[in-house]
Amino acid sequence: MVPVTLRDLLRTFTLLLVLAGLGWNLPARAANGGSQSPWGANFFPNVPLTTHDNKQVRFFDDLIKGKVVAINFIFTGCSAACGMETARLRQVQDLLGDRVGKDVFFISISIDPENDTPEALRAYMAKFNVGPGWTFLTGKQKDIDQLRSRLGLYMPPINKDSAGQIDHDLAVIIGNQTTGRWQKASPMENPEVLATQIGSWLSNWKSKPAIANPKYENAPVRLPQLSKGEELFRTRCVTCHTVGQPGTETAKSIGPDLTFVTRARQRGWLVRWLKEPDAVLAAKDPIATALFEKYNKLAMPNLKLSETDIEALLSFLEQGSAAYQANQAKQSQAKK
Ligand code: HEC
Repeated sequence: MVPVTLRDLLRTFTLLLVLAGLGWNLPARAANGGSQSPWGANFFPNVPLTTHDNKQVRFFDDLIKGKVVAINFIFTGCSAACGMETARLRQVQDLLGDRVGKDVFFISISIDPENDTPEALRAYMAKFNVGPGWTFLTGKQKDIDQLRSRLGLYMPPINKDSAGQIDHDLAVIIGNQTTGRWQKASPMENPEVLATQIGSWLSNWKSKPAIANPKYENAPVRLPQLSKGEELFRTRCVTCHTVGQPGTETAKSIGPDLTFVTRARQRGWLVRWLKEPDAVLAAKDPIATALFEKYNKLAMPNLKLSETDIEALLSFLEQGSAAYQANQAKQSQAKK
């Protein structure tokens, strides 16, 4: 028997995700009105679905064509933990304000369509106080399964455990159908980051949006500003690293916690490492070799970071460490 542990699988999976560029960024051909986007009607199944308002719609034509969308899969019988995701998207909806339903559309599709009738969906929406611009949908199991696999979120088999829970991928797919930019976002992601990602795509149109939107300029912008370093860290590093949680590495951690790494290592080493971890390891650098052994021989991928990216990341790591230290000092003060 080949000894493959869950940890190995997790590492391989994460690595694949990272190598895939942490989100597909397909170059859009001249994206006029969405019709020529590489992920057009041919890619997305145009399956029929029923909205929470009992309207019949088609996935491609009515829900995503020419739009910026955030798509996830839910079911109303899901536990509180899984409702967290809906709660989080609810916060993103708040941050994007009026833009939801005008420039960006939220789509939640039930993976338990048998139980999730339009009425059940409406009751669920009321619980989370879901605002306009967010459609909940149900449909045929086989159509929904097809959608899930097309979006890379299918997890077979759909078995309910004794508590009535269904295993499913909680990720949110965010994308701009017109430009062909799609990304898988973690449900653990901070709502402000999600709002920034979705929100910034609104201004990244390569052509005029297919939907006329006269009020676009007047829509409120309440997107918080993240530093470049923090945004990079949250999008490129959090799958494998934490900062501000030293000593919390478990058998499942993929990479080390990075608190104080800017103090533990020389800057020159860090810059070289972040630029080309593969080359540093290949050159049998002693620090890199020791880390490689310690972290289960998983090599950190070369993330093709630019010099400015690296500068921004290192200052973010410095700030994160300083914030952690200040917090520790405050706590020990309080204990006295
Ligand atoms: C696929 C997982 C993965 C991703 C993504 C990743 N790393 Fe790593 N990183 C690792 C592993 C594993 C190590 C330990 C060395 C090794 O095994 O190659 C490491 C080591 C490091 C180290 C050295 C730690 C030390 O103690 O000296 C730094 C610094 C670092 N990573 C920063 C980053 C930053 C910044 C990002 C995002 C831009 C990032 N990493 C993205 C997996 C990853």
